[in-house]
Amino acid sequence: HMKGAIFDLDGVIVDTAKYHFLAWRELAAQLGFEFTEQDNERLKGVSRMESLRILLEVGGLELPEEEQQKLAESKNAKYVEYISKLEQSELLPGVREYLTGLREQGVKIALGSASKNAAFILERLGIAGLFDAVVDGTKVSKAKPDPEVFLTACRELGLAPQECIVFEDAAAGVAAAKAAGTGIVGIGRPEVLGEADQVVAGIFELLADSQ
Ligand code: BG6
Ligand code: MG
Repeated sequence: HMKGAIFDLDGVIVDTAKYHFLAWRELAAQLGFEFTEQDNERLKGVSRMESLRILLEVGGLELPEEEQQKLAESKNAKYVEYISKLEQSELLPGVREYLTGLREQGVKIALGSASKNAAFILERLGIAGLFDAVVDGTKVSKAKPDPEVFLTACRELGLAPQECIVFEDAAAGVAAAKAAGTGIVGIGRPEVLGEADQVVAGIFELLADSQ
């Protein structure tokens, strides 16, 4: 019986995963190499600096720390440009209904995201009020697959990990939830999310079960 639901943001609630990809790909192009959607799979759920480290590895580049900071800032500036135009229609199908339904059943809801842009995105989408707790990249220091983000979310909800279910679209996030000891619903493809208890294509698939 689920008492708490913890949602990843990018790729679960809103289709921002594509903007992260576009911004990273633009950065790679500036640096003179190609960055594919398959490479991008490794960046999903991963913090900004760790993402950059992986991207540079793909490009075979080694750069000093100071330069890396600048590149991460430049990627974020491109990303923020995309999300500042984010529309409520980019909320993924079924999300608002599913979250509202959970609240009606008394299930507590948390966000568990690596993003430092999370609060801005929730406001832009008009769904900030649906969350009992928001745990994001400004609150935690250890990136997924470390369980810190989900353990913090459980604690903020006042629940044990075993009473919570995490909804995740990234392999790193599924691994983090496993390490935290929560239930896991994978959002996306079973090939990527095989470790989850259940995999669905999107939150919309869960609507029928919850009614
Ligand atoms: C995660 C995304 O939610 O947030 C990653 O899946 C992203 O792709 C990470 O790198 C950090 O986001 P931000 O907005 O702080 O750069
Ligand atoms: Mg995600």
